[in-house]
Amino acid sequence: MIKSLNWGLLGTARINRSIIPPLRLSVRNNLLAVASRTQEKADAYAKEWSIPKAHSSYEALLSDPDIDVIYIPLPNQFHAEWAIKAAEAGKHVLCEKPLALSVGDVDAMTAAAEKAGTFLVEAFMYRFHQRTLKIKDMIDSGEIGDVHHVKGAFTFPLNRPKDVRWDPDLGGGSLWDVGCYPLSFSRYVIGSEPKEVFAYQHVGDSGIDESFSAQMLFANGVTAQFDSGFRSQFRMHTEVTGSKASLFIPMTFKPEQRCFIHIQRGNNTEYVAVDGSHLYVDEVEHVADAVLDGVPSLLPLSDSRNNIKTILALYESARTHNVVKLM
Ligand SMILES: NC(=O)c1ccc[n+]([C@@H]2O[C@H](COP(=O)([O-])OP(=O)(O)OC[C@H]3O[C@@H](n4cnc5c(N)ncnc54)[C@H](OP(=O)(O)O)[C@@H]3O)[C@@H](O)[C@H]2O)c1
Repeated sequence: MIKSLNWGLLGTARINRSIIPPLRLSVRNNLLAVASRTQEKADAYAKEWSIPKAHSSYEALLSDPDIDVIYIPLPNQFHAEWAIKAAEAGKHVLCEKPLALSVGDVDAMTAAAEKAGTFLVEAFMYRFHQRTLKIKDMIDSGEIGDVHHVKGAFTFPLNRPKDVRWDPDLGGGSLWDVGCYPLSFSRYVIGSEPKEVFAYQHVGDSGIDESFSAQMLFANGVTAQFDSGFRSQFRMHTEVTGSKASLFIPMTFKPEQRCFIHIQRGNNTEYVAVDGSHLYVDEVEHVADAVLDGVPSLLPLSDSRNNIKTILALYESARTHNVVKLM
């Protein structure tokens, strides 16, 4: 018999819609329960999505002995608190990005998971997708020569006035929400950490950065830039410039099942097709591989920690108008 993991959703967040179908498709993962802050909301959600169990509080879900893995899709402000409580309850955790809002919180989450012997990983879904892994292989094998510069963007018009992303008290802001992706991508493909950063932001009426523009110098001499925002049209792409060729990656963080890498050599552009999985499938399968087979995490907590450390340095730079050194 195939061993499988029972999952519980901690909250009825919009993003759940992306992870429910992959959990249903998976033979090693099973969606068993949802929790909400009221029984009424949990029941309605469980009925709508045909989820067997509905819990009236997050605590009740963590106390459910049938649950192996907790998915945390809460507003950013609550990731650390509930990831720690989940680990203390002996549960494995897939926690939405950004993992936390401070380095101290990442360390506390890591310590809680280590103490409990549970798996904890940040839900940067694109990091588990075949195209991302192929890009990393291409770069590491020298296919584009030495990497000199990485440039990325992730913006979209955030038209919901009550969205949690507008609220500074809930960890809102475009850098926390979407800028974290091109930052994470740059660090991953460059294979080094930023040693100094400089940034500009536009802070809107609610007190969060509605747009953010970042520059980084990495320890290995590579430079990177990205912008994020809630007021511009939808943009999501990255360019990696090398000495022999450059890569352009459309929809870098949300690849379709059949997606492409554009390789530009001089005037020629080659379009390499990648046939991958549905975006969130590899993420949930990776949790099963890690928990059931002990496969090492594709996104170690040290990596998440460095992303958050850099985000905080970028915010500091944007606030102070100074270059912020990280090393
Ligand atoms: N990886 C991805 O592709 C992706 C995409 C979108 C979002 N995300 C991440 O997922 C998380 C949730 O984003 P979302 O847009 O899905 O959020 P959302 O729809 O606003 O849902 C957040 C949920 O958190 C619960 N909650 C607990 N305390 C809350 C509070 N004080 N205010 C509001 N909600 C509260 C609510 O569930 P109950 O009412 O049921 O308790 C609510 O449904 C964020 O961390 C975001 O960065 C990831």
